[in-house]
Amino acid sequence: MDQASGLRELVAKSGSTNSRFITIASGKGGVGKTNFAVNFAYVMANVFDRKILLIDADIGLANVHLFLNADPSKNIKNLFNGEPIDSIIHHTYGFDALLGFSGIEDIFEMEDSSVLTIINELERISSQYDYVVIDTGSGINQKVAAFLRASHKGYIITTPEPTALMDAYAFIKSIYNIYGYDSFKIVVNMCKNKEEGELTFNKLKVSAKKFLGIDLELIGILPYTNNLRSAVKNNELICMRYPKDPYSINIANICKNELQLGEGEDENFWRKLFDVMGKKPS
Ligand SMILES: Nc1ncnc2c1ncn2[C@@H]1O[C@H](COP(=O)(O)OP(=O)(O)OP(=O)(O)O)[C@@H](O)[C@H]1O
Ligand SMILES: [Mg+2]
Repeated sequence: MDQASGLRELVAKSGSTNSRFITIASGKGGVGKTNFAVNFAYVMANVFDRKILLIDADIGLANVHLFLNADPSKNIKNLFNGEPIDSIIHHTYGFDALLGFSGIEDIFEMEDSSVLTIINELERISSQYDYVVIDTGSGINQKVAAFLRASHKGYIITTPEPTALMDAYAFIKSIYNIYGYDSFKIVVNMCKNKEEGELTFNKLKVSAKKFLGIDLELIGILPYTNNLRSAVKNNELICMRYPKDPYSINIANICKNELQLGEGEDENFWRKLFDVMGKKPS
């Protein structure tokens, strides 16, 4: 692909950032990715005082804006149309958000000079944050894979439900087999209790070790809670409305652990992202 190789040369010249990128993904839909992403961003920002950028890259049902009461027409398309990036950043609940990244491949329709401007803008903006959290859609597709491969970490959300677990395994297997990516951190959501979460994780861990030879890490068990549902219904975030709910406490523990793992490693997220997206399969 001539265009892709030209793009690769351009992006190779761009700089790196100290921000850490976390992509949230799952096999099955409706397992709680978006709720996790929004609440994780909220707690990182408001409890741990970190600068957070949340990106909505869901291809199917982009709905981060609903949680943030934000206008979805202010999105990445405006950036592609020449508006300054600062004007499309949403500021809510103590953190920032960028919407519409499911349309990111439109960048390949643009001229190289515009692409470079946009990548520079994305890098400039990202470097102002401690963490960039990316909410994706369900299922295995090239775009989710690209976000994962470009980011430091992939948080995979599952639930104890057998179909969710099966889809999580299929997702991990396929991303590992096709791309060799193996930095998966597991969150088990909607658990009755801690034991159910541990049991669920162990099934996934054993299969991944036995059949793929990779080590999965459990980073959190989140309970099923009606408080989350009632917060969503009232257009609120559970971690803000019910900070003492075990869900909120466990989100805070996940944030704490993430922060203890160390910050400040160099990343070239945007360069890697456009690089892997530009490489069409032969
Ligand atoms: N811990 C929980 N306890 C109770 N309900 C939950 C919990 N986590 C998520 N939910 C509910 O599950 C549904 C799906 O949640 P969410 O939209 O976050 O999932 P998703 O993985 O982002 O879905 P999609 O794949 O469509 O993007 C919502 O109705 C939400 O309120
Ligand atoms: Mg979602």
